[in-house]
Amino acid sequence: MGWPYVGETTQLYSSKNPNVFFARKRNKYGPIFKTHILGCPCVMVSSPEAAKFVLVTQAHLFKPTFPASKERMLGPQAIFFQQGDYHAHLRRLVSRAFSPEAIRGSVPAIEAIALRSLGSWEDLQVNTFQEMKTLETDPSVGVVAQYALNVALLSIFGEEEMQYIEELKQCYLTLEKGYNSMPVNLPGTLFHKAMKARKRLGAIVAHIISARRERERGSDLLGSFMDGREALTDDQIADNAIGVIFAARDTTASVLTWMVKFLGDNPAVLKAVTEEHAEIAREKALSGEPLSWADTRRMRMTGRVIQETMRVASILSFTFREAVEDVEYQGETSINFARARALVVCGSAAPYCAVPLGVQQCAACLPAHELARKGRAPNRTGIDQLELATHLDSLSSVRAGYLIPKGWKVLPLFRNIHHNPDHFPSPEKFDPSRFEVAPKPNTFMPFGNGTHSCPGNELAKLEMLVLCHHLATKYRWSTSKSESGVQFGPFALPINGLPMTFTRKDKNKA
Ligand code: HEM
Repeated sequence: MGWPYVGETTQLYSSKNPNVFFARKRNKYGPIFKTHILGCPCVMVSSPEAAKFVLVTQAHLFKPTFPASKERMLGPQAIFFQQGDYHAHLRRLVSRAFSPEAIRGSVPAIEAIALRSLGSWEDLQVNTFQEMKTLETDPSVGVVAQYALNVALLSIFGEEEMQYIEELKQCYLTLEKGYNSMPVNLPGTLFHKAMKARKRLGAIVAHIISARRERERGSDLLGSFMDGREALTDDQIADNAIGVIFAARDTTASVLTWMVKFLGDNPAVLKAVTEEHAEIAREKALSGEPLSWADTRRMRMTGRVIQETMRVASILSFTFREAVEDVEYQGETSINFARARALVVCGSAAPYCAVPLGVQQCAACLPAHELARKGRAPNRTGIDQLELATHLDSLSSVRAGYLIPKGWKVLPLFRNIHHNPDHFPSPEKFDPSRFEVAPKPNTFMPFGNGTHSCPGNELAKLEMLVLCHHLATKYRWSTSKSESGVQFGPFALPINGLPMTFTRKDKNKA
């Protein structure tokens, strides 16, 4: 567990890539282990079964958890922070607005945004993601994220509320800049500016709501939030509309950035994808119609490219939950008690399984259970180590359980699960063909799993298919090979935001 308060924070952050830290711990202690990050005791979970336990089957025992400053900034009534009835109510409204039935009609509008975005970055060297964050007022940069932002705004407010959209975008970008800053609310700080922008955003959403009240409701997210008996209050709508922009934008933009990179790095895959889209493009040229939902259902190869991109990139490395009570989890894996004993006795950063409890089929383990509870003190001085070691000695390798104490953070490690060679052989290799066969249950969770899983997943996939259609058929691009690697901030991104240049394929034909 490392030093008191600081715990293993230094080791985590000094490794640059948090996954190196997690993989090292996993190799040493197995798929479930404990650590101590920024003052919080945490249990890391990297087995598909345990992730399912936390996110799906026993989700009610684990609440979402965010720093208070983030909750204030996004809006305390936003869906991410909720549990129980209010969360279920919000889920119904959000899922309805982003269901395949609701979004299938928006393909032409999304296509128009894609064409506008692509046109604006032709022949320019663009830093797809990071530069956009500093130069977002210049329409020639930050295109992928700008695309994702525009699609998000379309899906939330529809096409008619466009008069407010420019101001809304500017306020949102100010809010985003302050999101990861020190939460010091003094004039001049990024946090203060972000909080002011958040207030203004609330006022803009209030204007949009009253304009909408004068008209028909619409099938976008705002329409869903304002619908009849299920309608939310204005504050609830503002918190959730802003929350959805936040959830939709950087996520989709990061995956798109990775997709462009992986296609650029894998010419054979790009060729297969281009052929798939060229066939559809020929038909569209003949009929003169825009892309339709049915066309996107035929983009199977591209669908696998998107899946593999999300697996390799795993832009959300992990998520956070907090145990609302003491939770016992009966692990699927056997633990070796001789090894556990050694770890307990030496008092090193012992894995959670070093304080086993509730060991199946073994009544003799009740004393260990008690000791485990005592061992909750950060320095575990409460453990009678000799007694526990003697007890562990009496056991061979048996199925083990774990105690997750109330208040501890629990982090399902998506990236480690996606990069486990037992489920995905040669995990670092980009190979979309692996998705010709469905992955084993709970081993592939790019959109999370269970009650808080991503309600925007169909829209995200649609956006990526549409952009890929025009990118593959009309453009060539070259990624800079000089720098490769991943940066985390907090989403995984190609290093330096992937600098690249796009050129129209038909440019030299005339
Ligand atoms: C490729 C793009 C995306 C990825 C990889 C992604 C990933 C995720 C993941 C992993 C979660 C679950 C987090 C957790 O369990 O703590 C989540 C939640 C969520 N996502 Fe997405 N997302 C994407 C795009 C979108 C889009 C386009 C929207 C909306 C238009 C959206 C809206 C949401 C919302 C509202 C939640 C919170 C759900 C809840 O708490 O019940 N996401 N997303």
